[in-house]
Amino acid sequence: MYMDVPLPLPINSNPGMVFPPRKFTTVHDVARFAARIIDGILEHKELLDSGNLPQERAASREKNQPLCMAQYYRLLGSCRRPGLERDSQFLPDVRNRDESHHIIICCRNQMYCVVVQANQIGKLSEDEIFSQLLYILSDAPCLPSAPPMIGLLTAEPRRIWAKDRQVLLQDEQNCRNIELIEKSLINLCLDETLPLAFNARGFVGAASSTHFAGHRDETNMAHEMIHGGGSECNTANRWFDKTMQIIICNDGTWGLCYEHSTSEGIAVVSLLEKILNKIDEIPSLEENGITQQHLPPPERLEWIVRPEISKRIQEAKRDVDRRIEDLDFYVYRYQTYGKNFIKSCRVSPDVYIQLALQLAYYKLYGHLVSTYESASTRRFLLGRVDCIRSASIEALEWAKAMCQGEGANVALESDKEDEEDSRKVSFSIYNREQLTELFRTAATRQTEIMVQNILGNGIDIPLLGLREASREIDGELHELFTDESYKIANCFLLSTSQVACTTNSFMGYGPVTPRGYGCSYNPHPEEIIFCVSAFYSADNTSASRYAKSLQESLDIMRDLLAK
Ligand code: COA
Repeated sequence: MYMDVPLPLPINSNPGMVFPPRKFTTVHDVARFAARIIDGILEHKELLDSGNLPQERAASREKNQPLCMAQYYRLLGSCRRPGLERDSQFLPDVRNRDESHHIIICCRNQMYCVVVQANQIGKLSEDEIFSQLLYILSDAPCLPSAPPMIGLLTAEPRRIWAKDRQVLLQDEQNCRNIELIEKSLINLCLDETLPLAFNARGFVGAASSTHFAGHRDETNMAHEMIHGGGSECNTANRWFDKTMQIIICNDGTWGLCYEHSTSEGIAVVSLLEKILNKIDEIPSLEENGITQQHLPPPERLEWIVRPEISKRIQEAKRDVDRRIEDLDFYVYRYQTYGKNFIKSCRVSPDVYIQLALQLAYYKLYGHLVSTYESASTRRFLLGRVDCIRSASIEALEWAKAMCQGEGANVALESDKEDEEDSRKVSFSIYNREQLTELFRTAATRQTEIMVQNILGNGIDIPLLGLREASREIDGELHELFTDESYKIANCFLLSTSQVACTTNSFMGYGPVTPRGYGCSYNPHPEEIIFCVSAFYSADNTSASRYAKSLQESLDIMRDLLAK
């Protein structure tokens, strides 16, 4: 699913995750928080090495079945590698337990290697990590010359980055740097604030986000985690191939950008939420200057930059900035109700939200499209996900009935439509009982599809296996996979997933096709957080219009089902 895709990782593949903002007053607060995160990562590594990671079990639908834990062992110390033909994964050797460990810290586009555990010194204490971070935070801004923006190359299309990487590897020093980055447990990026231009555009008022860091809204924070904000902001302060990049911004915004090929979001979220909960239990400290530590300062990575790489970095700047400008992203908190109300209607919250996503699409376009929802298949050894296809015939019948008399709101260019919409007199040839009946039928079908998938009876992953087998055995694709219907079925104009978090956090990603939408959601008891994405270059999509249609859909669904 991942290794053959040549698209750049940011926006197209790496999800971004925003955690509740922290309050930082001084640079010491930044360093202390970052030190605690690293300390939590090291503790988690010990747990993995000791084999004591608790076994997770399914919480519903054939409850208590054990879930495959392999993803957890691939999160730390791993990295994706670009290839000229296809990418590959660098994975840690889990049998090698007493290796030394280091972390790469990115700060102002510089990269520093902090050894956090070594045979001679053991594991660094939180205070020692703190002082290493403080050193970096004071060193990076004072360096005489700006560093080469090597990180930008990792944001380029995969085959282009693979060529650039080969040029870099011609110099021994660069080889060592790349090896250090690939093997580091995680990358930790200490960021600068993003400009307000990244705040949500459109649909203000009805559905603006309510959580801010300074004047930045949640849409702005999500941009930072997904792509870094461009070459003038933090995009070069990344290594997008790295599995886990924890991002901490000086204004208290923090989150994660993760490379998706090794694991699903659920494993990453649960690791970070566990660390966050522990940090919140520790009392905050009054920092009084740098605590005296006797460790050598962390090593700053220096690069040999050949002229062809300099030229490529200039090109990458333009490419990356153009792609970032094209991302239409909207974080939308629906606050009228959450999963408590949905459960009271005797419907699965996931099923209900999927139907709302279908209705929202139908209201805008007058038809449904291939829809992807990720379903965890971790009940099986090495299982990852299969695809819940939510655009069922039953969903279409219900959506059509709900929109009788409305007509599709296909043209998206003008906000005047809002006014026209509000003046429209709506009528329906279906009465409430009939609409409820159609809804129940659609919900039953959607529940069946969901359960089939999570219990291992989905169709997409087996088809993917057959497709790759046919390529391997015959050297070409079987006609099933070149048929127009297969192409349409796999062009996911709506790509969705539930990323449930226990904290007030959310994860977002870009659309998977140029004219499509991405939409992740996080249902809470009394609200639902959506991250909607689209591309400005597509002439008929708009993240905020889709969010607004979602709001209308959820409102009318409540009116339909409320007793
Ligand atoms: N009436 C009342 N309550 C119901 C109900 C019904 N008919 N059906 C379900 N519920 C309850 C459940 O018991 C559960 O209760 P809890 O909150 O006490 O645990 C809750 O509603 C949620 O259940 P549901 O909405 O059905 O979904 P789920 O939690 O089983 O999740 C998937 C469904 C498909 C999202 C999940 O199985 C999955 O695969 N998640 C992984 C997705 C993923 O990989 N995301 C990351 C991509 S990077």
